[in-house]
Amino acid sequence: MHEGLQKEIATYEKRTPGSRKAHKRAEERLPLGVASNYRAYDPYPIFARDGKGGHLHDVDGNEYIDFNLCFGALIAGHCNPAVIRAVEEKLATGTMLGMPHDLEWELAEEICKRFPVEMVRFSNSGTECTMHAVRLARAATGRDRIIKMEGGYHGLHDSVLVSVKPKAEEVGDANFPTSVPGGEGITKATLQNTLVAQFNDVAGVERLFAKYPGEIAAVIVEPIMMNVGILIPDEGYHQALREITKKNGALLIFDEVKTGAKLARGGACEYFGIKPDIVCLAKSIGGGFSLAAFASTREVMGLISDHKVFHGGTYNTNPVAMAAGLAMFREVLTPAAYEHVNRLNKKLLDGYDKEIGKTGLKAYVVGAGSNGSLMFAPKPIHNYRDWLKVDSELWRHYWFAMVNRGVMAQPYWWDEQWTVSVAHTEADVDRHLAVFAEIAPALAQAQKEPHAAASSAH
Ligand SMILES: Cc1ncc(COP(=O)(O)O)c(C=O)c1O
Repeated sequence: MHEGLQKEIATYEKRTPGSRKAHKRAEERLPLGVASNYRAYDPYPIFARDGKGGHLHDVDGNEYIDFNLCFGALIAGHCNPAVIRAVEEKLATGTMLGMPHDLEWELAEEICKRFPVEMVRFSNSGTECTMHAVRLARAATGRDRIIKMEGGYHGLHDSVLVSVKPKAEEVGDANFPTSVPGGEGITKATLQNTLVAQFNDVAGVERLFAKYPGEIAAVIVEPIMMNVGILIPDEGYHQALREITKKNGALLIFDEVKTGAKLARGGACEYFGIKPDIVCLAKSIGGGFSLAAFASTREVMGLISDHKVFHGGTYNTNPVAMAAGLAMFREVLTPAAYEHVNRLNKKLLDGYDKEIGKTGLKAYVVGAGSNGSLMFAPKPIHNYRDWLKVDSELWRHYWFAMVNRGVMAQPYWWDEQWTVSVAHTEADVDRHLAVFAEIAPALAQAQKEPHAAASSAH
């Protein structure tokens, strides 16, 4: 570990004794001391106390400008007033009804107005909705196999927990990447049915359709890969996926869990001008509550109506989450909100760019909608294998240095990105940039010193 990072971690430990203590205690009862593996990192994670707007406090009382925002699930910011108002009403009139109610139709209408879909079902997490999307695609085609992209993340169910973060020595042939399980407990049959292509490799997808004619139900893809920092697709990539899937009688699933609410009013479908067969939404559509949706054509969703595909769930459309979702679509995700986050994000990206140029740091920033990412790679990455070369040690230096100065620049992990929320202000962005300007020379200096640069897979 280089000296600059060592110093930042020592400062972190001095500033956050309460988090260390809380983590130690939690480790006794929760594996890794956390409720989701993504929240565990060395030396110990920050334990949060509260969040409001674009800011949060940790258990030691340190304040942060929060650009993590629950892994991008809070374009609304913490405790968005419109969301809280809508939710509070429901707290007094029934939080779980387990029966159909009007908010279901209302929110489905809102989704159908923005996305090129005709029918919607709701669930509670991104994992659930991609699981149902894959099942629907299998039922619609009578085929078992799917294609996902190497490094793509679609949640935690078996079919997609494949080649999420394979190590460099595991990825295999670039033309036919190996299907690598994302941990133990995933069956061999799953690995056979989840085929892997490299992102941006249209020929790779064609090769798989040629190798398995009539066997592939769907291609599932994050329209912009946001589990390797930010990876923007090549011009025409999604059009090509659209044509190939159509030609081969397979479905195209857009996993818009991250992009759906944050990229544009109509998510990546609008941004790229694509009509996929199934759209998956979660995270930011719920304004801080567990809300997800998968949506498609009448024909595909008709498989549920015809009792051919089963979908259910006790917590589905609980009025609290639905009220939050409606407030998001009707009051928060307005054209003015997109103008605000896009403008602030542009300012942030331009500011980073300027500092990178000034200090000679070998890195670049990339943005999309309200998201941005500082990538410690000398040139823009084009697929997951490029991302593996990102300098994770330098990234850790960046993250701890920002946090120590009161800016949670993004979630911990160099495969994530920052989110600008409707609650952030010019002053928040100015402070973010001032802190980056303060630490950038040390990062540039550290980059010149020999250190263990990779590997990025975690
Ligand atoms: C693109 C994408 N799909 C699916 C998921 C899974 O969502 P959840 O954590 O709500 O299950 C995530 C979570 O980060 C995601 O980024």
